[in-house]
Amino acid sequence: MTSHARTTLAAAMTTALSAALVPFSVLAQGSAAADTTSEKLARGKYLVTVAGCNDCHTPWKMGPQGPEPDMSRMLSGHPESFVLPPAPAPQGPWIVAAAATNTAWSGPWGVSYTANLTPDPETGLGKWTQRNFTETIRTGRHMGRGRQILPPMPIPMHKNFTDADLEAIFSYLQTIPVVKNRVPEPLPPAVPVAAK
Ligand code: HEC
Repeated sequence: MTSHARTTLAAAMTTALSAALVPFSVLAQGSAAADTTSEKLARGKYLVTVAGCNDCHTPWKMGPQGPEPDMSRMLSGHPESFVLPPAPAPQGPWIVAAAATNTAWSGPWGVSYTANLTPDPETGLGKWTQRNFTETIRTGRHMGRGRQILPPMPIPMHKNFTDADLEAIFSYLQTIPVVKNRVPEPLPPAVPVAAK
Protein backbone atom coordinates (compact mmCIF):
# COMPACT_ATOMS: atom_id res chain seq x y z
CA MET A 1 0.00 0.00 0.00
CA THR A 2 1.40 3.40 -0.94
CA SER A 3 1.62 6.01 1.73
CA HIS A 4 -0.96 8.02 -0.18
CA ALA A 5 -3.39 5.06 -0.14
CA ARG A 6 -2.80 4.58 3.60
CA THR A 7 -3.58 8.22 4.31
CA THR A 8 -6.73 8.07 2.22
CA LEU A 9 -7.84 4.88 3.92
CA ALA A 10 -7.16 6.35 7.35
CA ALA A 11 -9.10 9.49 6.46
CA ALA A 12 -12.02 7.44 5.17
CA MET A 13 -12.04 5.36 8.35
CA THR A 14 -11.96 8.45 10.54
CA THR A 15 -14.88 9.93 8.63
CA ALA A 16 -16.84 6.70 8.87
CA LEU A 17 -16.08 6.40 12.57
CA SER A 18 -17.03 9.94 13.41
CA ALA A 19 -20.18 9.64 11.31
CA ALA A 20 -21.08 6.62 13.43
CA LEU A 21 -19.98 8.20 16.71
CA VAL A 22 -21.41 11.70 16.50
CA PRO A 23 -25.07 10.75 16.64
CA PHE A 24 -24.24 8.25 19.35
CA SER A 25 -22.48 10.80 21.53
CA VAL A 26 -25.32 13.27 21.05
CA LEU A 27 -27.75 10.60 22.17
CA ALA A 28 -25.54 9.65 25.10
CA GLN A 29 -25.38 13.28 26.22
CA GLY A 30 -29.14 13.66 25.88
CA SER A 31 -29.89 10.67 28.05
CA ALA A 32 -27.21 11.64 30.59
CA ALA A 33 -28.96 15.01 30.97
CA ALA A 34 -32.33 13.29 31.38
CA ASP A 35 -30.84 10.97 34.00
CA THR A 36 -29.40 13.90 35.94
CA THR A 37 -32.77 15.67 35.92
CA SER A 38 -34.73 12.63 36.98
CA GLU A 39 -32.17 11.80 39.68
CA LYS A 40 -32.37 15.39 40.96
CA LEU A 41 -36.18 15.28 41.07
CA ALA A 42 -36.14 11.90 42.82
CA ARG A 43 -33.68 13.27 45.37
CA GLY A 44 -35.87 16.36 45.86
CA LYS A 45 -38.95 14.21 46.42
CA TYR A 46 -37.03 12.09 48.91
CA LEU A 47 -35.79 15.13 50.85
CA VAL A 48 -39.23 16.77 50.92
CA THR A 49 -40.68 13.49 52.20
CA VAL A 50 -38.18 12.80 54.98
CA ALA A 51 -37.68 16.43 56.03
CA GLY A 52 -41.38 16.52 56.96
CA CYS A 53 -42.50 19.38 54.68
CA ASN A 54 -45.90 17.67 54.35
CA ASP A 55 -46.33 17.61 58.12
CA CYS A 56 -46.86 21.36 58.12
CA HIS A 57 -47.41 22.47 54.51
CA THR A 58 -50.10 19.86 53.66
CA PRO A 59 -53.40 20.34 55.54
CA TRP A 60 -54.30 17.43 57.79
CA LYS A 61 -57.59 15.56 57.60
CA MET A 62 -58.98 12.81 59.79
CA GLY A 63 -57.90 9.37 58.46
CA PRO A 64 -58.58 5.82 59.67
CA GLN A 65 -55.52 5.95 61.97
CA GLY A 66 -56.10 9.54 63.13
CA PRO A 67 -55.04 12.88 61.62
CA GLU A 68 -52.87 12.64 58.46
CA PRO A 69 -51.78 14.99 55.66
CA ASP A 70 -54.45 15.27 52.94
CA MET A 71 -52.25 14.49 49.92
CA SER A 72 -54.95 15.67 47.50
CA ARG A 73 -53.92 19.15 48.72
CA MET A 74 -50.20 18.34 48.83
CA LEU A 75 -47.99 21.19 50.07
CA SER A 76 -50.64 23.83 49.34
CA GLY A 77 -50.28 25.49 52.76
CA HIS A 78 -52.93 26.73 55.16
CA PRO A 79 -56.29 26.54 53.31
CA GLU A 80 -57.65 30.05 52.66
CA SER A 81 -61.21 28.76 53.23
CA PHE A 82 -60.35 27.64 56.77
CA VAL A 83 -60.80 30.93 58.63
CA LEU A 84 -59.90 30.53 62.29
CA PRO A 85 -61.33 32.20 65.39
CA PRO A 86 -58.80 33.98 67.65
CA ALA A 87 -56.25 31.56 69.16
CA PRO A 88 -56.78 30.43 72.76
CA ALA A 89 -54.85 32.40 75.39
CA PRO A 90 -51.66 30.60 76.52
CA GLN A 91 -52.09 28.75 79.79
CA GLY A 92 -49.08 27.99 82.01
CA PRO A 93 -46.41 26.17 80.02
CA TRP A 94 -48.84 25.55 77.11
CA ILE A 95 -47.74 28.49 74.99
CA VAL A 96 -48.23 27.09 71.48
CA ALA A 97 -51.52 26.07 69.86
CA ALA A 98 -51.98 24.38 66.48
CA ALA A 99 -55.09 24.33 64.28
CA ALA A 100 -56.73 21.02 63.27
CA THR A 101 -55.03 21.17 59.84
CA ASN A 102 -51.55 21.59 61.43
CA THR A 103 -51.12 24.52 59.04
CA ALA A 104 -51.64 27.39 61.52
CA TRP A 105 -49.94 28.00 64.86
CA SER A 106 -50.25 30.51 67.61
CA GLY A 107 -47.26 31.19 69.87
CA PRO A 108 -45.12 33.99 71.27
CA TRP A 109 -44.40 35.05 67.63
CA GLY A 110 -48.11 35.61 66.86
CA VAL A 111 -50.04 33.42 64.42
CA SER A 112 -48.23 31.84 61.46
CA TYR A 113 -49.72 29.98 58.51
CA THR A 114 -47.77 27.58 56.30
CA ALA A 115 -46.93 28.77 52.79
CA ASN A 116 -48.23 27.31 49.54
CA LEU A 117 -45.20 25.49 48.07
CA THR A 118 -46.94 24.38 44.84
CA PRO A 119 -45.91 26.04 41.55
CA ASP A 120 -49.01 28.27 41.33
CA PRO A 121 -47.64 31.61 40.02
CA GLU A 122 -50.01 33.81 42.06
CA THR A 123 -50.33 32.01 45.39
CA GLY A 124 -47.40 29.55 45.42
CA LEU A 125 -43.76 29.40 44.35
CA GLY A 126 -44.47 29.52 40.59
CA LYS A 127 -42.61 32.80 40.07
CA TRP A 128 -39.75 31.98 42.43
CA THR A 129 -36.24 31.33 41.16
CA GLN A 130 -33.82 28.83 42.66
CA ARG A 131 -32.01 31.81 44.15
CA ASN A 132 -35.18 33.12 45.86
CA PHE A 133 -35.71 29.71 47.41
CA THR A 134 -32.11 29.09 48.51
CA GLU A 135 -31.81 32.57 50.01
CA THR A 136 -35.10 32.19 51.90
CA ILE A 137 -33.95 28.96 53.54
CA ARG A 138 -30.39 30.23 54.19
CA THR A 139 -31.31 33.63 55.67
CA GLY A 140 -34.74 32.86 57.18
CA ARG A 141 -36.17 35.85 55.32
CA HIS A 142 -38.83 35.85 52.59
CA MET A 143 -36.84 35.65 49.31
CA GLY A 144 -33.68 36.41 51.28
CA ARG A 145 -34.57 40.05 51.96
CA GLY A 146 -38.21 40.33 53.05
CA ARG A 147 -39.77 39.74 56.44
CA GLN A 148 -38.46 37.12 58.84
CA ILE A 149 -39.88 33.60 58.45
CA LEU A 150 -41.67 32.70 61.67
CA PRO A 151 -41.74 29.46 63.67
CA PRO A 152 -42.40 26.63 63.47
CA MET A 153 -40.74 26.68 60.01
CA PRO A 154 -37.51 24.83 60.90
CA ILE A 155 -35.14 27.44 59.41
CA PRO A 156 -32.50 26.77 62.15
CA MET A 157 -32.27 23.16 60.86
CA HIS A 158 -33.12 23.56 57.19
CA LYS A 159 -30.57 26.31 56.61
CA ASN A 160 -28.00 23.50 56.87
CA PHE A 161 -29.17 21.81 53.67
CA THR A 162 -26.42 21.78 51.04
CA ASP A 163 -26.86 23.89 47.89
CA ALA A 164 -27.36 20.68 45.89
CA ASP A 165 -30.11 19.55 48.29
CA LEU A 166 -31.86 22.93 48.07
CA GLU A 167 -31.66 22.72 44.27
CA ALA A 168 -33.14 19.23 44.29
CA ILE A 169 -35.95 20.31 46.67
CA PHE A 170 -36.84 23.41 44.67
CA SER A 171 -36.70 21.57 41.31
CA TYR A 172 -39.04 18.90 42.68
CA LEU A 173 -41.43 21.48 44.19
CA GLN A 174 -41.75 23.10 40.75
CA THR A 175 -43.11 19.79 39.35
CA ILE A 176 -45.86 19.02 41.89
CA PRO A 177 -49.56 19.63 41.12
CA VAL A 178 -50.57 23.30 41.19
CA VAL A 179 -53.03 24.28 43.91
CA LYS A 180 -54.41 27.81 43.90
CA ASN A 181 -54.62 28.77 47.56
CA ARG A 182 -53.86 32.19 48.99
CA VAL A 183 -52.44 31.74 52.47
CA PRO A 184 -53.25 34.54 54.95
CA GLU A 185 -50.54 36.88 56.23
CA PRO A 186 -49.28 36.13 59.76
CA LEU A 187 -50.78 37.98 62.73
CA PRO A 188 -48.60 39.87 65.24
CA PRO A 189 -48.41 38.60 68.84
CA ALA A 190 -51.25 39.72 71.13
CA VAL A 191 -48.62 40.73 73.68
CA PRO A 192 -45.59 42.16 71.86
CA VAL A 193 -42.41 40.16 72.50
CA ALA A 194 -39.73 42.29 74.22
CA ALA A 195 -36.95 43.20 71.75
CA LYS A 196 -33.70 41.39 72.51
C1 HEC B 1 -42.90 22.42 61.67
C2 HEC B 1 -43.64 22.97 60.53
C3 HEC B 1 -42.93 23.18 59.22
C4 HEC B 1 -42.13 22.29 58.53
C5 HEC B 1 -41.72 20.88 58.93
C6 HEC B 1 -41.76 22.95 57.30
N1 HEC B 1 -42.30 24.21 57.26
FE1 HEC B 1 -41.98 25.59 55.80
N2 HEC B 1 -43.07 26.96 56.86
C7 HEC B 1 -43.77 26.70 58.03
C8 HEC B 1 -44.47 27.90 58.42
C9 HEC B 1 -45.36 28.07 59.64
C10 HEC B 1 -44.20 28.88 57.45
C11 HEC B 1 -44.71 30.32 57.39
C12 HEC B 1 -43.88 31.20 58.29
C13 HEC B 1 -44.20 32.66 58.12
O1 HEC B 1 -45.24 33.03 57.56
O2 HEC B 1 -43.38 33.47 58.56
C14 HEC B 1 -43.29 28.25 56.50
C15 HEC B 1 -42.72 28.93 55.43
C16 HEC B 1 -41.95 28.33 54.45
C17 HEC B 1 -41.37 29.02 53.33
C18 HEC B 1 -41.38 30.53 53.10
C19 HEC B 1 -42.38 30.95 52.09
C20 HEC B 1 -42.33 32.45 51.86
O3 HEC B 1 -43.23 32.94 51.15
O4 HEC B 1 -41.44 33.15 52.33
C21 HEC B 1 -40.77 28.08 52.54
C22 HEC B 1 -40.04 28.30 51.23
C23 HEC B 1 -40.94 26.80 53.20
N3 HEC B 1 -41.65 26.98 54.37
C24 HEC B 1 -40.48 25.60 52.71
C25 HEC B 1 -40.48 24.41 53.46
C26 HEC B 1 -39.86 23.18 52.99
C27 HEC B 1 -39.25 22.99 51.62
C28 HEC B 1 -39.98 22.28 54.02
C29 HEC B 1 -39.43 20.89 54.08
C30 HEC B 1 -38.01 20.72 53.69
C31 HEC B 1 -40.68 22.95 55.11
N4 HEC B 1 -40.96 24.23 54.72
C32 HEC B 1 -40.99 22.37 56.32
C33 HEC B 1 -43.77 25.51 58.73
C34 HEC B 1 -43.03 24.38 58.41
